[in-house]
Amino acid sequence: MKGLFLLVSIVVLAASCDNAKPITEVIEDSFDKIDLDSPENIELGRKLFFDSRLSIDKKTSCSSCHLPEFAFSDRMQFSEGVNGHFSSRNSPSILNSKFLERLMFDAEIKTLEEQALVPIQDTNELGMVMSDLIQRLISIPEYQNAAQSIYNRDFDAYVLTRSLAAYQRSLLSMNSRFDKAERGELARSAEEERGWKLFSEDLYCTKCHPAPYFTTFKADNNGLLDDYTLDEGRFRIDFDSSEIGFFKIPSLRNVELTYPYMHDGSLKSLGDVLSHYASGGSGHPNKSEHILPFNLSKQDGVDLKAFLYSITDTSYLLNASK
Ligand code: HEC
Ligand code: HEC
Repeated sequence: MKGLFLLVSIVVLAASCDNAKPITEVIEDSFDKIDLDSPENIELGRKLFFDSRLSIDKKTSCSSCHLPEFAFSDRMQFSEGVNGHFSSRNSPSILNSKFLERLMFDAEIKTLEEQALVPIQDTNELGMVMSDLIQRLISIPEYQNAAQSIYNRDFDAYVLTRSLAAYQRSLLSMNSRFDKAERGELARSAEEERGWKLFSEDLYCTKCHPAPYFTTFKADNNGLLDDYTLDEGRFRIDFDSSEIGFFKIPSLRNVELTYPYMHDGSLKSLGDVLSHYASGGSGHPNKSEHILPFNLSKQDGVDLKAFLYSITDTSYLLNASK
């Protein structure tokens, strides 16, 4: 009996040695088993998103600049972060960020997990040092218990970024009048129909803002400014001068709610945006060849706006509140 036990043990040991994996892979395997998009993890991320204890002055949270009622953007040109500091860019909507291939106006960061590290540590936004923040959050039983039950580990930066990302992936807004009309569930108004035709056929908007996401996920220069010295956009990633003034092409979903517009919040209304494009934009050498002047009658303006309003969908509010 003893001999058999020894034999079995050796066989089992040998088998496990044969399959021995580097420790990093073993760790990854165990995380693979976690359902990151489970309701519990989304709920943990939601609580963290609205929690001002994530900031150095305990007064600012992700939701201070990404407010549900404004499609998770705000109404400021630049947003107020900790200690009266302001962000250097306009706060974008984070709805449908699940689909984005690149995040931020530089169109460089690839995942929501990685993105979360930026506002947490930016001195104009939440202004925290990660190790201090983890010490603060691990001592809150609600968070520590959730980390244990969902991830089977102490609350740490991994848990923080994974759960924030899971919450944001759950924020979808893809059921607007436009989507319903595409599915044949309702008829567009005459204005919406004319606006959609202008946007997608007569003008050039869908070169950069194609349905269904209304972005190509790339960055481009839409001729907003003559001089980009204040913010050179994607140029700051790899110092390629052909990318001066290149910014992430934003999705236009919920654009009715997300004013003011552009990376610097310099255009206050959709009327200003349409006038910008109709003028043909700046003379900057990097301006896209697609941006050409056009005549915009009063009726065209009304129609284009009717179309843009038709891609608003606030049903996300039902499961996004505090
Ligand atoms: C002080 C205001 C402020 C706070 C606080 C803030 N953000 Fe932002 N957020 C911004 C601004 C401004 C940008 C655009 C930055 C850029 O492109 O360089 C942004 C960009 C983003 C993006 C990229 C969206 C896109 O379309 O590319 C995501 C996702 C995001 N924030 C999530 C968060 C999360 C999660 C938190 C909390 C951990 C947070 N934000 C806290 C202002 C803020
Ligand atoms: C060459 C690509 C390109 C074309 C073509 C284009 N856009 Fe844009 N659009 C952009 C970029 C890039 C931005 C962001 C610029 C910035 O942040 O400075 C933008 C921003 C916008 C915004 C502001 C969104 C926000 O949340 O701030 C609106 C609205 C918009 N475009 C509408 C249109 C319309 C309408 C047309 C057609 C007349 C059009 N665009 C054509 C690239 C393009």
